Amino acid sequence: MNAIVENTDAKRATADIFNSVVAASAIGAAWELGAFDELEKNGTIDSAEFAARNDLHPASTNGMFMALASVGVVVRRDGVVVPGPNFNEVNQHRSLFHWLSLGSGELFAKLPSVMRNENRTGDYYRRDAAAISYACREISERYFDPAFWRAMNGLGYDFRSVADLGSGSGERLIQLVSRYSGTKGLGVELAPAAIEMSRAEIARNGLAERITVVQGDARTIEPRPEFADVDLLTCFMMGHDFWPRQNCVATLRALREAFPNVRRFLLGDATRTVGLPDGELPIFTLGFEFGHDLMDVYLPTLDEWNGVFEEGGWRLVRRHLITSLSVSVVFELE
Ligand SMILES: C[S@@+](CC[C@H](N)C(=O)[O-])C[C@H]1O[C@@H](n2cnc3c(N)ncnc32)[C@H](O)[C@@H]1O
Repeated sequence: MNAIVENTDAKRATADIFNSVVAASAIGAAWELGAFDELEKNGTIDSAEFAARNDLHPASTNGMFMALASVGVVVRRDGVVVPGPNFNEVNQHRSLFHWLSLGSGELFAKLPSVMRNENRTGDYYRRDAAAISYACREISERYFDPAFWRAMNGLGYDFRSVADLGSGSGERLIQLVSRYSGTKGLGVELAPAAIEMSRAEIARNGLAERITVVQGDARTIEPRPEFADVDLLTCFMMGHDFWPRQNCVATLRALREAFPNVRRFLLGDATRTVGLPDGELPIFTLGFEFGHDLMDVYLPTLDEWNGVFEEGGWRLVRRHLITSLSVSVVFELE
């Protein structure tokens, strides 16, 4: 018998891994360039026509669709692209691919350098803050919004002024202020690229008079005169930056002092999973947890969050679990 037995399963699986990496970038790009929305709406795209209409390089556009086809997101026939067997599921989660490949791509691309202890000082990694804000707007809408609006509907008072910590694209403030007339919004954001993007979006929505975004670090927040009016506080997808535990307790207390008139604090985030088998990790979990380890950002588990509010001076009123994005949650605090 031949000593070398070809393992065709492993060969196919290996090629699929390779193709998936390219396809992850293609999914992020196809979303940002409008191909997913167009396929959803019209059911077909002509690659050459799509490239010409959007002023895209034709061969690269063809490559993007080839990458999508390699993982069953689309099917291609003579330059015509139609949804494939995985289209609906991937389209649902497209923002997570964008977050991974466009927002966090450089972090993973530089793994050997980022992992070496000798390099892990100062600004030892880079991510694209504008791309992350772009992806997070839809991540927020698709995964957190159902629980967020349930919490808003159960608020029990008419808020007048809302502050959003780590306001990113500004979309949460835009939505809140648009839905509740006579209210105003204040964003506290660290990244200049996100501030710039959110200010442009706020102006585009004609809300510059009602929403202000200031640069600030939510972890070391100090009282400001404009904080005194705030009666609703929100913070989505950045609460893990408050940790480790002692820092989180201190930040939660500092928030109470900085915003003395807040009646409700809606805090939503993904948490670190516990005990999931490696072969059964759902979408997002691996990139989220490994990525934060690389960045040396502590990710609390759900239990760790549950155990910190009382000491931080907040009472947990309700908890909404979100199972479509790793293990995520919206806490209602007062
Ligand atoms: C994952 S994004 C989420 C954006 C937005 N909250 C949303 O729900 O779409 C996290 C945002 O928090 C900002 N951020 C991170 N750490 C921060 C801090 N310590 N203070 C203020 N903003 C921070 C980031 O720049 C980024 O815009």
